[in-house]
Amino acid sequence: MIQIDPDPVPTFRLASGEKIPCIGMGTFGSDKYAPDEVSKAVAGAIQWGYRLFDCASVYGNEVRIGEVFAKAFKEKIVRRDELFIISKVWNDMHGRGDVLLSLAKTLKDLQLDYVDAYLVHWPFPNYHEPGCAGDARNPNSVPFSPERFLETWAQMERAKDAGLVRSIGMSNMTVHKLETLLPHCRIAPALVEMELHPSFQQPELFNYCVKRGIQPIGYCPIGSPNRPERDKAPEDVIDTEMPEVLSIAQSHGIHPALVCIKWAVQRGHIPIPFSVHEKNYQANLQAVLEDPLTDGEMQALAQADKKCRLIKGQVFLWEGAAGWQALWD
Ligand SMILES: NC(=O)c1ccc[n+]([C@@H]2O[C@H](COP(=O)([O-])OP(=O)(O)OC[C@H]3O[C@@H](n4cnc5c(N)ncnc54)[C@H](OP(=O)(O)O)[C@@H]3O)[C@@H](O)[C@H]2O)c1
Repeated sequence: MIQIDPDPVPTFRLASGEKIPCIGMGTFGSDKYAPDEVSKAVAGAIQWGYRLFDCASVYGNEVRIGEVFAKAFKEKIVRRDELFIISKVWNDMHGRGDVLLSLAKTLKDLQLDYVDAYLVHWPFPNYHEPGCAGDARNPNSVPFSPERFLETWAQMERAKDAGLVRSIGMSNMTVHKLETLLPHCRIAPALVEMELHPSFQQPELFNYCVKRGIQPIGYCPIGSPNRPERDKAPEDVIDTEMPEVLSIAQSHGIHPALVCIKWAVQRGHIPIPFSVHEKNYQANLQAVLEDPLTDGEMQALAQADKKCRLIKGQVFLWEGAAGWQALWD
């Protein structure tokens, strides 16, 4: 297999001092791809030159991915310090003492001494069964509470103090939630993971983070065409069919998915596209090294935002909440 030299892949420097590649690979099988399929892709991606992986306990595949990391280190395909590994604490592990327990399990599953970044996956302790229907509700679900979140965050800070994680971060935040939380964080988040793709650019949240030295990581960078059914709505925009994306893809002679990847990296957020298919994940990394979009194309895409959130999070709603918008202030 031809490998991409990871050295020319641009990196960002986080506020925590760590270096992070400008693109990574997602590992959520979207209820569609089994742990073995995802871990096989992670193995192939390491060989291909990926150095950043976005994992999470809730993806149910950290054991298999851990086996791949261990084998890659043992066979000297890559060194531990060359990889940037993200994981996340799930919503049912926000309680006192639970974050460290969850992190311990992740470290055991991934066969690591530390993760490079550990994120609070959602700002609510609202659990739902894996694979549940979109209208499923947990009667114990509650609205966002800054006090409760800060108790969870204090455990994240302790995990960093203990050297078990190099950077800590948040995910699925809003400007309002960050405004409320940041003054009370002893250690500010070094990164915030958020949904970002051409039809959902979140310029306010993106700019808010950049201004404060918080690195945005963009999930669903291609518009997550294989996302779970519970996350699909008839009005959703398909990024790879947007006229602006199609016309740029045509003039570069590339797949529209690669336009989304190039846009993300050139804009300054870190996309974490997922695919178990060699051809696709190889092309995604290759895309950041060649044939950049022009300023005019970047501008055309900036103007193409449709404010179309795909991962609405409705399964996290509490009783009495009006609709999914309540999760996003
Ligand atoms: N923090 C959070 O709450 C959160 C939420 C959602 C996702 N995430 C993370 O973000 C990652 C990415 O999100 P996602 O998987 O939902 O969406 P995505 O990366 O936007 O889309 C993935 C789909 O795009 C297709 N694809 C990938 N590369 C392609 C290419 N070069 N050409 C054509 N099609 C291509 C793949 O299809 P094929 O399968 O056919 O290759 C794949 O199923 C996840 O894996 C996860 O790590 C985080």
